[in-house]
Amino acid sequence: MPHTQLNRRQLVSPLRVFGFVLLLAFLAEGLIMLVLPRISLWPRGSVGESAADAALLSLMLAPGLWFVAVRPLRNVFRDRGELLERVFEAQEDERRRLARDLHDELGQHLTAILVGLRAMEQAAESESTRGRATVLLRLTSTSLNEVRRLARGLRPGALEDFGLSEAVERLCEEFQATHHVSLTLNMKLRPDRRFSPATEIAVYRLLQESLTNIARHAEAARVQVSLSEIEGAIRLVVRDDGKGFDNSRLADAGRNPATFGLRSMQERAELLRGSLRVVSEPGKGTFVEGVLPITEVG
Ligand SMILES: Nc1ncnc2c1ncn2[C@@H]1O[C@H](COP(=O)(O)OP(=O)(O)O)[C@@H](O)[C@H]1O
Ligand SMILES: [Mg+2]
Repeated sequence: MPHTQLNRRQLVSPLRVFGFVLLLAFLAEGLIMLVLPRISLWPRGSVGESAADAALLSLMLAPGLWFVAVRPLRNVFRDRGELLERVFEAQEDERRRLARDLHDELGQHLTAILVGLRAMEQAAESESTRGRATVLLRLTSTSLNEVRRLARGLRPGALEDFGLSEAVERLCEEFQATHHVSLTLNMKLRPDRRFSPATEIAVYRLLQESLTNIARHAEAARVQVSLSEIEGAIRLVVRDDGKGFDNSRLADAGRNPATFGLRSMQERAELLRGSLRVVSEPGKGTFVEGVLPITEVG
């Protein structure tokens, strides 16, 4: 497989395509100018001549352009889509594995420490030992909660068990509790409404990444999340009243490694034939809208 990929990339090297197209146009036009004026049916007069010349040139270029540029480009786009799909799948697999390790390994150990500390606290003979055990108990319990929270973030069990609307509600509640930001959720999906796993996970990750961005960058006081169904698509809107950012830089996001989160959100949406729109301006908050066409549970 790496072989075919390599050949394809060489074939659509932009310089090579550029050269081919120039050569093709040169040869085709040369041929037309040489051969056709000798044919008696060739139209006379500047308008007729130009029209016939342009029509013939287009006809002669079309198959060449198709094979030299369009077909390889289409293949490159298809390969890119397949690769992205596999990257997202691998990312989800990795997150699941990490979540399991965190929950099962670290979680188990912390639970064992918790039980041991509780016994120590009860059996402690001196007041100071009991006090220390209590402090450690509290710390371990917080760590255990944090481990569980991280595991849930990596692998949202609620999504698989209860569906998108419940998982989104839980994510919003947790965000509000953790970051002390006022969050309003406008949920218009029925609790029992299910979609294909790919769509559900995509919507969930879009929201998760948007909320993480708000926590990390926005310094917002208020966040509004809305999830609804419009004309065969799911629409997710996340709006914050934080400090915003210069959105025009995103136009050149392809070269800017600092926008990896937003770019991967966009790739995720486009992979499912949806779209992502980010509107922001310094001092004016940020508006993120993801629209994903609905694929029913298959
Ligand atoms: N809600 C937001 N409020 C303010 N700035 C934001 C918000 N979302 C994104 N940004 C800005 O856009 C940049 C790119 O975001 P992202 O691609 O998610 O990368 P990262 O979060 O890793 O920095 C961030 O570094 C930040 O400057
Ligand atoms: Mg981010």
